[in-house]
Amino acid sequence: MASDATPEEGGPRRPRVLVVDDELGVRESLRLVLRDGFEVVQAENGERALALAAEARPDVVLLDILMPGMDGLAVLERLRGRHPELPVVMLTATRTLKTAVTAMKLGAFDYVQKPFDLDELRAVVHNASRTAALQREVEELRAEVGRRYQLGNIVGRSAAMQPIFRTVAMVAPQRTTVLVTGESGTGKELIARALHHQSPRSALPMTAINCAAIPENLLESELFGHERGAFTGADARKVGHFELAHGSTIFLDEIGEMHPALQAKMLRVIETGELMRVGGTKPVSVDVRIVAATNRDLEQAVAEGAFRGDLFYRLAVVSLALPPLRARREDIPLLLRHFAREKAGELGVVERPFSPEAVAVLERYRWPGNVRELENLVERLFILGTGGPVRPEELPEPMRTSAMPRHDDRGEAVLRGERSLSEAVDDFERAILREALARCDWNQTRTAERLGTTRRILKYRMDKLGIPDRPS
Ligand SMILES: Nc1ncnc2c1ncn2[C@@H]1O[C@H](COP(=O)(O)OP(=O)(O)OP(=O)(O)O)[C@@H](O)[C@H]1O
Ligand SMILES: [Mg+2]
Repeated sequence: MASDATPEEGGPRRPRVLVVDDELGVRESLRLVLRDGFEVVQAENGERALALAAEARPDVVLLDILMPGMDGLAVLERLRGRHPELPVVMLTATRTLKTAVTAMKLGAFDYVQKPFDLDELRAVVHNASRTAALQREVEELRAEVGRRYQLGNIVGRSAAMQPIFRTVAMVAPQRTTVLVTGESGTGKELIARALHHQSPRSALPMTAINCAAIPENLLESELFGHERGAFTGADARKVGHFELAHGSTIFLDEIGEMHPALQAKMLRVIETGELMRVGGTKPVSVDVRIVAATNRDLEQAVAEGAFRGDLFYRLAVVSLALPPLRARREDIPLLLRHFAREKAGELGVVERPFSPEAVAVLERYRWPGNVRELENLVERLFILGTGGPVRPEELPEPMRTSAMPRHDDRGEAVLRGERSLSEAVDDFERAILREALARCDWNQTRTAERLGTTRRILKYRMDKLGIPDRPS
């Protein structure tokens, strides 16, 4: 490698410039001009430039436009793809000035015209390397801050997350019951696990029960167990999850869905530390720490009489309200990086960075499915993607437009009398329901929640509109 490297003298390393030009004369004169302030590496064609960009890790590239073989624009595009943060300055002759402008649109940092004005050339290269260094510094600082405010594997440096982390750290070691609330996908279960792992109970596994997923008539015996002959089919005694979780933590997910009769029994267990198996006569005492979660507004449910007030207050001794992702957009880039690393590892694929343009789009998006939606997006991009940085064009349509699909044209057809209103309304409803289901991983309870209806009504409408239970 032709290089001007001088031995390091403890000071910061001089910025490295990669000069790409097919003419030796041009390369040499650039080297002479720049050698005072920079370390210069040279490439005589595009292929060599791409190889050196990876090997020599330059801070700035000076790139000729007209070269035999791969021309400057093609090299630029690949460099942008592989090293999006690397500034590229185009070297242009008068006749290629138009191309230089195109290059700027493709993301070149700047261009200088041949014959070079030496001061201008130095200034541009300085500027480019300083900008890149600053960008790197910001990135490093961000990662550093991220590390510092990260609680275990919970990512978030936004102001909105700090009180959550503080409370978790404070109450985790206690036996206190905690109620975690927040929209779907905001990390309620993750927080429950953090509470458990930072408690003296962490040697035993945490038991997680989804109250909405277990049929109402079975939930009680799942939780508290039953005696033999307690009901038809109970041909043996069964120990419930509460007893099994003795000495550990139980996570009651979607507690808002618990039937009122069971709510009353739950309250007794919390108050007395004793439970009664279904069909049992002797109370069994248990030492279990309870963490409950819901994406419902429990206070409102209490006001409406759908949830017991006394149980609510027992559960919400400490309550943690997780903010939706759109209320902490600063965390989006951090989460993207977190899941990029994680998914690349899990899937055994190369990690793809997100282009600044794609990040900007994602920072504007509403994220109704919160962190889970973001996690699923990264996974899809890594499975289906072509490699290289994620471009905005690869993002799903609703993210790019940040709005629901438009239906104006359908309205127009109705007004022109070409379709009936009820058909158009059905189409609209079908599209919305499908979208809502997709955003909730086809979980009907959550979808109904989000749409402000009940699961029964949702299912009724789905059948009516011919929407299957699973994506088709
Ligand atoms: N702050 C975070 N940092 C890293 N990962 C997160 C964060 N919040 C959520 N996740 C991840 O997002 C996914 C959804 O989180 P989780 O299951 O805890 O959400 P939830 O609030 O329980 O959702 P639901 O109400 O739908 O059950 C999980 O894979 C979780 O690991
Ligand atoms: Mg959950």
